[in-house]
Amino acid sequence: MNAPTGPVTCSRRQILRGAGLATGVVVGGGVLVACSDPVDPSGAVDDVTTSGAGETVVALADVPVGGAVSAEVAGTPVLVTQPTEGEVHVFSAICTHQGCTVAPAGDLLECPCHQSVFSLTDASVQAGPAPEPLGEIAVEVVDGDVVVA
Ligand code: FES
Repeated sequence: MNAPTGPVTCSRRQILRGAGLATGVVVGGGVLVACSDPVDPSGAVDDVTTSGAGETVVALADVPVGGAVSAEVAGTPVLVTQPTEGEVHVFSAICTHQGCTVAPAGDLLECPCHQSVFSLTDASVQAGPAPEPLGEIAVEVVDGDVVVA
């Protein structure tokens, strides 16, 4: 499986798709340094990345393989997923439908308000009314910790 080395980043397209109003900037190495306004119902990945840069989100060992855990970055709810061993993603937990907080649900992510369901791998919408995937936050694994890049 993929080794937990190097940054795990979101593409600019993913951010723009998830952010709606995004005016994000992607700089060298694909590190997202700024995106749009504060987290909003469109699932924007915003200043979380900037204000949370370098912040440890969770120990990788605490993220189940094939599952996810809830956490916070800079006080904003996020979801840390590990679809396969060593493949780590951090998504905004703000539902793109109406802004409820999405939670882990086995091998998926689910919004408790209207049951939108998102994938662990790319937070794409699997079911429900959510119009867009959850926004992804660039992270890397450092000494066993998932850290905002
Ligand atoms: S707010 Fe998440 S499905 Fe409606």
